[in-house]
Amino acid sequence: MLKAILVGFMGAGKTTVGGVLAEQVGWEQIDLDDEIIAAAGKPITAIFADDGEAAFRKLETTVLQATFNKTGLLSTGGGVVESAANRDVLQATDIPVVYLQTSGNVVLDRVSGDDSRPLVNQLGPDGLKALLAKREHLYQSVSDLVIRTDDLTPEAISDQIQAYL
Ligand code: S3P
Repeated sequence: MLKAILVGFMGAGKTTVGGVLAEQVGWEQIDLDDEIIAAAGKPITAIFADDGEAAFRKLETTVLQATFNKTGLLSTGGGVVESAANRDVLQATDIPVVYLQTSGNVVLDRVSGDDSRPLVNQLGPDGLKALLAKREHLYQSVSDLVIRTDDLTPEAISDQIQAYL
């Protein structure tokens, strides 16, 4: 069974925090983006370029559902809340869902120039901030715990999650 699920925007630290937490508590870390890459047999940039974002989202939903058969800590991709089907799954589960909440400026600092994230170049800084604003309530709607991460180290965030679990 999954132990916890991390959600949040690109650059929120889901993978980094997930790595620290998984290491501390001895869980396997499962990264939804990596699972999607394995299922598609190609990187996310290639899925977006060859098949389009809609195809990526479909695959994301299928792979998300499959991860519920695994054991460990799941770090999701920032767009997992775009799909109503995914939100239903995240809302219905008893597994704790933790939202790593990050301000737009911190997100931009972390992701600008990252060519592995297709939406970064596609949307630009203003578009990314608008997307974050649009998704904010979606992250809130699926989560059991919200942690404002801007001024916290991954270790401090991991401690807060452990205290909650
Ligand atoms: C996306 C976030 C990415 C990845 C894809 C789309 C998004 O994951 O799934 O590029 O729509 O926010 P990270 O949040 O791990 O960067």
